[in-house]
Formats: sequence, structure tokens, C-alpha cells
Amino acid sequence: MKQPSYILGIESSCDDTAAAVIAHNKVLSNCIANQKIHEQYGGVVPELASRAHQSNIVPVVDQALRSAHIDVSQLDAIAYTQGPGLLGSLLVGGSFAKSLALALDIPLIEVNHMQAHLLAHFIEQENMQTPDFPFIGVTLSGGHTQLVLVRDYFDMELLGTTLDDAIGEAFDKCGKVMGLSYPSGPAVDRLAKNGRPNRFQFPIPKVPGYDVSYSGLKTAFINFLHKNTQKQPNFIANNLEDLCASLQFTLIEVILKKIEQVVADTKIKNVVIGGGVSANSEIRRVLELKKNTSDWEVFIPPFEYTTDNAAMIAIVGALKFQQQQFGTLDAVADPRLKF
Ligand code: KG4
Ligand code: ZN
Repeated sequence: MKQPSYILGIESSCDDTAAAVIAHNKVLSNCIANQKIHEQYGGVVPELASRAHQSNIVPVVDQALRSAHIDVSQLDAIAYTQGPGLLGSLLVGGSFAKSLALALDIPLIEVNHMQAHLLAHFIEQENMQTPDFPFIGVTLSGGHTQLVLVRDYFDMELLGTTLDDAIGEAFDKCGKVMGLSYPSGPAVDRLAKNGRPNRFQFPIPKVPGYDVSYSGLKTAFINFLHKNTQKQPNFIANNLEDLCASLQFTLIEVILKKIEQVVADTKIKNVVIGGGVSANSEIRRVLELKKNTSDWEVFIPPFEYTTDNAAMIAIVGALKFQQQQFGTLDAVADPRLKF
């Protein structure tokens, strides 16, 4: 199996422009330009995201190469996010990756962003174990909530997904109604630490199989806030920590019940989480507990590899390079790319 030396990863699927260099499955640099512009709109504005990627991509790639202390001529391959994501955003990263690969005459590698959130666990780090196959992959992000049977690096089967909103979207939309800034997942997490998770009860939707739904819960939460602020104008401010704790508890309970069901049915006790919401301290705590109470092997990513980043794209590039799975210059960006 051929081992590449240096792989450049480029991620531009949503509102973060990111570039990273990896060598022998170890991260040499991992750079991100966050797009602050979306905060004032309370969500990502696709057109503005594409424009910001255009201005960020060259400096971010340059920074990733400098931080890795390598010259662009030393790269062995370029891996980039082909999808899923916002079309305009994907096109910026993809076009840049293709041009650079063509100019350097090196291989191009297409990466599925959702696979990358799970395969980030194969980045080599001190004192960190990599998961054994098969495992149950759980991707929790602003755009996705997926339960995946992972038989091998590139043998993944989607078992369940959200029928409507993603878990991160529910955190963000409910947080917005409470007046928290976008994206509000981290603020809900922080405020919930001093709140009582059983103070308010919200309905857990009954969805067949391994699918989940967050839209009804989100609406119930927002209606509950409206009803109570009509009676007490300061209801949100007076109960903010309890509201965050109760909301967070219910959002996590929905996915936790489904993970437990998949583990029971498949008898696979290796559980690997990824995506922005895997940074949530309560979900990390609850899953850590499962190691002791239910004998699960749980893999939780380091914080820098939870939200969107290019190191996870570069590691997939390295794994595909080892299997000689290369891409083509005519590959098209795919906003709905499947496994
Ligand atoms: O994976 P990601 O960076 O981007 C997508 O692909 O969507 O995930 C972003 C999501 C946002 O919804 C954000 O609110 C959520 O991750 N998030 C959190 C936390 N940190 C980020 N949600 C709950 N608790 C956190 N600590
Ligand atoms: Zn993501």
C-alpha cells in the first residue's frame, strides 16, 4: 500500500473555509476562517457564504502550508469536500482544489463530508485509540442527524436520519427564540450547566425505526415560550438556565433512545460520534457513562475535530490515497451527496 507524505485537505461545505495538512495520518496544520457575517442574520446566508469562501480560500490554504512548514510543491495530493453542503460553497472549494491539483500535476481526491465527520477518528494522536470495525456512527450537526452502520472505511450504510430538522438546527432555532446568538448550540450547552433538566417537560416524538424528528419538539418549545411570555414578559430571562437544560435534555434523549435501539438490535457496542453537536458537554457525559453502565466502547472526537474542519477531509484523503481511490477533474459538487 502506497503511503503519501503530504495531503492537503480543503473544506468549504457550509460557512467555514478550512484547510489542513496531514502526513502519515498525523495533523501538521488545521486552519479555519469562520464567517462571522452570518451571525447578524441568525443563520447561514448561502450567497454570502460563497463570497466569503472566495476571499478566504487562498489565505487559509497559504496559512495551512506555512503552519505545516511545507512548500506547496511537496504536496502529494489534494482532498476536498464534494458534498453534501451548499452548492455555491462547495463549488468554491472544489474549483480551487481542482485548479491547484492540475497546476501541481498531483492526484485529486473527492471527500464526502459526512463520512469525514466519522473518519476523523482515524487521525493519529497520542493516547487516542482508533475505533475497530464494525461500529455505529452517529453524526450530529447543523445540517444532519444520522445513524450509520460502518463496516469499513468506505462501506457505510445509513440506518436512520432526521425526517425534518437536524439536532443542531433545533439547538440553533430554539436558542434564537430565547435571544441567544447564532449558532446557539454552545450557549445552550453553557447555560444548561446551571439549569434543571427536569424543570420543564417537552414531548419525545414517536418515530418508527431508527429515524428521528426534531421539528415537532422545536415547535412545542417555541409555543411553550410564547404562551408563557404572554403571561410573564420576563419568563425567558427568569428561567433561561432551566429552559436550556430542559431543552438540551430532551434533544439528547431523542437521539440517545435511537442509539440504544440500534446497539440492541445490531449487538454492535462500538459507538462513534462526530459533527458539531458532538462538542456538547452533556452528550459527551451521557455517552461516557454508557461505557460503564452498558459496556459500550464510545469514541468522542477532540473538540477541534467536532465542528467543520479540514483535518477530517485530509484524513479521508490519506485513507483514499492508500487505497488508490482518486478523483477526476470533471467530478461535480453534489449538495445531496449520499454515502
Ligand atoms: O458540523 P458543524 O460544524 O456544521 C454542520 O455541518 O452543520 O455543526 C454545527 C452545529 C451548529 O448547529 C451548532 O449550534 C452545533 O453544531 N454545536 C453545538 C455545540 N457546539 C456546536 N450544539 C450543542 N452544543 C455544543 N457545545
Ligand atoms: Zn459538518
